[in-house]
Amino acid sequence: MATQPVGERDYFTDHSVLLDPYRYFDEVRANGPVFRSKHHDVVIVTGHQEAVDVLRNTEDFSSTISTGGPVIPLPFEPQGADITDQIETHRLEMPGTNLLVAQDGARHANARALLVGLFTPSRLRANEDFMKTLANQMVADVVSKGGCDLVKEVATPFVTLVVANLLDVPADDRAMFRAMLDEAPPVADVNNVDDKQGAATLGYALERMGQHFAGYVMDRRANPRADVLSELANAKYPDGTTPELIEIVTLAVFLFAAGGDTSAKLLSNSTRILCEDPELQRRLRADYSLIPAFLEEVLRIEGSTKMTARLAKRRARVGDLEVKPGERIAILLSATSHDERRWPDPKDFIIGRPKINEHLAFARGKHTCVGAPLARLEVRLMLESLFNQTSDISLSEKHHGPAGDRKLDYEPSFIIRGLNELHVELTPA
Ligand code: HEM
Repeated sequence: MATQPVGERDYFTDHSVLLDPYRYFDEVRANGPVFRSKHHDVVIVTGHQEAVDVLRNTEDFSSTISTGGPVIPLPFEPQGADITDQIETHRLEMPGTNLLVAQDGARHANARALLVGLFTPSRLRANEDFMKTLANQMVADVVSKGGCDLVKEVATPFVTLVVANLLDVPADDRAMFRAMLDEAPPVADVNNVDDKQGAATLGYALERMGQHFAGYVMDRRANPRADVLSELANAKYPDGTTPELIEIVTLAVFLFAAGGDTSAKLLSNSTRILCEDPELQRRLRADYSLIPAFLEEVLRIEGSTKMTARLAKRRARVGDLEVKPGERIAILLSATSHDERRWPDPKDFIIGRPKINEHLAFARGKHTCVGAPLARLEVRLMLESLFNQTSDISLSEKHHGPAGDRKLDYEPSFIIRGLNELHVELTPA
């Protein structure tokens, strides 16, 4: 296995990788499913099984760097055979480590247990009418104009309002939260890879949102109602103790932030694929029962979270490679979906692949995305609404150029895969 790939482009900063990560994935796969990159001293995983093994192995790998990314230097010099204690001592010096997705061990298990019940089918069914009505209104507005930028006018506001409704954020505060998130720098900015400041700015936006959530949570503790936030505010740890207010607030804010961009990108990535393949669009219009399988294949072929990261706590194996305590592992989730050892003909869009749910778009193991059922439901409902109210959806050539020579602009993030804009023309039904 090559350990210093010749000519390897820098996944974290190269704009050509940003535009077409899939070509990069194919290139680097030639170095094996796991290799040590010559850039940033990071181990890169592109193999499906190798990624599953790391994601499931919480004994040897910490999630501390999953939000800050694997490029920001550690705030300590790894020492000894096991750096678990060092990670805990320095945890708060690393960006985003108070968020659920970056927690480890018992602290993570306890916090995650508080979310059990929030995304169950019955809970989601209770919010389905709101989602359908909202989707129908938003689609009616843009169909009446003949088209729109689907990202800014539909996808992002829709998923934001859905999470806000789920958490029962007062209507007057919803736009303010969206603005706070919009003002924050892009997650994992390719133009500023070791930008602690950017991560801190996002942290600041979440903190400001947290101040408002603290008020809602205190109110729900004093006056519980039949809503998700009351359930979260009054949830107990598995041992029966009551979490600190700050724990609940951090979880609620993270749900708000995590449930936005990724789902919006799933909707826009799905719509782009349907525009580029009119036959597929006709098939789905004729049979809505195909939509769930279609969405799984979109998540596989163009998932909205390209990567996550883990930090080796001790000497461990990643595939055939031995890693030392303190080594940073970039798990390229989207690359694993194109690993032909797991997915035959990975470039083909095939509805109904066997065991399609084994894709890693929502990761795997103890940190598997808790919002996956919500993401699947809200995007399906929005697609149904678009199909109901239009007879055709196509890309605007004025904005994106003709088929075969499209101009598409992607969010400058090494974590998120999604379009900045998607201008569509909508033919009324
Ligand atoms: C298409 C949409 C989505 C994608 C692709 C996605 C992707 C992911 C991935 C890959 C992880 C695991 C990261 C890791 O292991 O390091 C994750 C975790 C998480 N996601 Fe999502 N997500 C989506 C939508 C949502 C929604 C709608 C919510 C909630 C409203 C949500 C809430 C969370 C939370 C709370 C975690 C942390 C779980 C934990 O650490 O235990 N996500 N998501």
